[in-house]
Amino acid sequence: MAYTSQLHGKWALVTGASSGIGAALARELADRGAKLILTARRRDRLEALGQELAAQGTEMRIIIADLNDPVAPHQIYRVTERAGLEVEILVNNAGLGQYGFFHASEIEQEMNQVRVNCDAVVQLSRLFVPRMVERRRGWVLIVASTASFQPMPYITTYAATKAFDRFFALGLAEEVAQYDVKVTALCPGPTESEFFDVAGAGVLRQRGVQPAGEVARLAIDALERGKRTLVPSFRGWLGAQLVRLLPTSFVTREIAKRTGPKKAPPTPRLEEKK
Ligand SMILES: NC(=O)c1ccc[n+]([C@@H]2O[C@H](COP(=O)([O-])OP(=O)(O)OC[C@H]3O[C@@H](n4cnc5c(N)ncnc54)[C@H](OP(=O)(O)O)[C@@H]3O)[C@@H](O)[C@H]2O)c1
Repeated sequence: MAYTSQLHGKWALVTGASSGIGAALARELADRGAKLILTARRRDRLEALGQELAAQGTEMRIIIADLNDPVAPHQIYRVTERAGLEVEILVNNAGLGQYGFFHASEIEQEMNQVRVNCDAVVQLSRLFVPRMVERRRGWVLIVASTASFQPMPYITTYAATKAFDRFFALGLAEEVAQYDVKVTALCPGPTESEFFDVAGAGVLRQRGVQPAGEVARLAIDALERGKRTLVPSFRGWLGAQLVRLLPTSFVTREIAKRTGPKKAPPTPRLEEKK
């Protein structure tokens, strides 16, 4: 008998669907027969992906939203409610990082990470999960990272937001399992996407990258199986095991040595500032 995905015919909301892992997750869900609500800021990218999916017969909608805006999750929710779209699969994928010295970084970019990677994830989950609980059915994928397994100097805020995402996913997974709602924390290592350009983190990309399509296929398999944590690469999985055994101060020192910027930014002394 031909395999039919449990996700077939269900509406999936994918944040950050305009590139990288999010676009790959949208394609993977469409391949399994899900209907797609694609959201991000770049309309042209979403429309191009939407056309590609529509040509394959996938029903889809596009919602342009900036998750830096604290009201954006409510706006997305309202659009789906008004259109009568029952979101049964929520993919919290949108995210960004910033590489470099924290003390010299763009403060707005630090806060954007907290808002998009954490605030929006909590809000969207809080808005869409109650209906899943009522239905006694639903799937939530939260894109964390292998950065969630240890603090990471020079991409400090990002790693902390991803630790938040993973812990949030694991706590929620336990709470809602009794209602047959499945929550998976996806923890990719370096993956082909625009992430490194946006974060200015080319040094991290040099360690080798995994194709986004492969990450997406393994992630949706894990989501369907109700697996709570997925590290989609062997290297990432091994790293996650290793850092559990080592003192955190040793791990952070090694990461700083291997991936830290070669040159410190010019920093004025207190007396020079007067
Ligand atoms: N690539 C990696 O190595 C890697 C590894 C581990 C985890 N991750 C995680 O994977 C997720 C996807 O990232 P990616 O690697 O695919 O990077 P990407 O290609 O840069 O994609 C990021 C996505 O997030 C969206 N986004 C960013 N800021 C947004 C905002 N303010 N409002 C709405 N959408 C926003 C972007 O859309 P617009 O710019 O169009 O808004 C884009 O679609 C992130 O959560 C990231 O932390 C990536």
